Amino acid sequence: MAVILDGKALRDKILLNLKKDIDLLTEKPKLSVILVGENPASVLYVNNKKKTAEKLGIISEVIKFPADVEEEILLDKIKELNNDDKVNAILVQLPLPEHINKQKVIDTINPKKDVDCFTSVNYGRLAAGLKPYVYPCTPKGILLLLDEYGIDLDGKNVVVVGRSNLVGKPMSLMALGRNATVTTCHSHTKNLSGITKTADVLISAVGEVLIEENMVRENSVVVDVGIFRDENGKVRGDVEFNDVENVVSYISPVPGGVGPMTIASLMLNTYELYMVQKSEVHSDLK
Ligand code: GUN
Repeated sequence: MAVILDGKALRDKILLNLKKDIDLLTEKPKLSVILVGENPASVLYVNNKKKTAEKLGIISEVIKFPADVEEEILLDKIKELNNDDKVNAILVQLPLPEHINKQKVIDTINPKKDVDCFTSVNYGRLAAGLKPYVYPCTPKGILLLLDEYGIDLDGKNVVVVGRSNLVGKPMSLMALGRNATVTTCHSHTKNLSGITKTADVLISAVGEVLIEENMVRENSVVVDVGIFRDENGKVRGDVEFNDVENVVSYISPVPGGVGPMTIASLMLNTYELYMVQKSEVHSDLK
């Protein structure tokens, strides 16, 4: 039986420590979230982020716009937040409606307030092996989870399934930054199971039932980033958990694995941006 990579327990531990740090601050960090439209998943995520922030003493505001908002209005709001010294972190919840130029909106965020690491500046720095202001939340959460269980990536075969800008691609870059040998698989990959079976650490971020027992290596580590509802309405991930857990050494559950770690990373990032802005020193970026 595999050891469960318990994201909830680690989230609680991280947030407890973070709260202690935030309690020491007289002026509190502030996270501003922009939500366009009423996509139910986005509303749920945003409410969760706000609730968690408030428990920690992070000031949090959700700025809502209708789905048909003009792009210019969003850009103006972001510029206003950029210029507001009280706002330390800005998050534009994705997806955005089709008529909005997503990258233009994201690149209007001051990179110093880019809590997701989505701006071209921060993403480019990540790709170039330089430090962004903060690292993207989901891959950062996954590395924190692996660190907690003493799983070192140096020299290991890491296979990432999925190449999204949100998870797969930055995850591959960050695993490379940890000196792993990284393979990124996607919908055009031939012989997927032949590749996944070479993984010491397999990270699946696809959003459909995909990873079966015969696709994983014995005693490997499996991280499941997928989260969706099956035909019975049950929340599940990419991995056939009940079968795969008998084969591998470590496995992250859904729910309770990567999801809580993403939120923990967002809170850490908000605090880190606050500290950078307060001190105005940053080792690489001046
Ligand atoms: N939509 C789904 N996940 C995320 C995330 O981590 N950040 C943002 N901004 N939008 C998302």
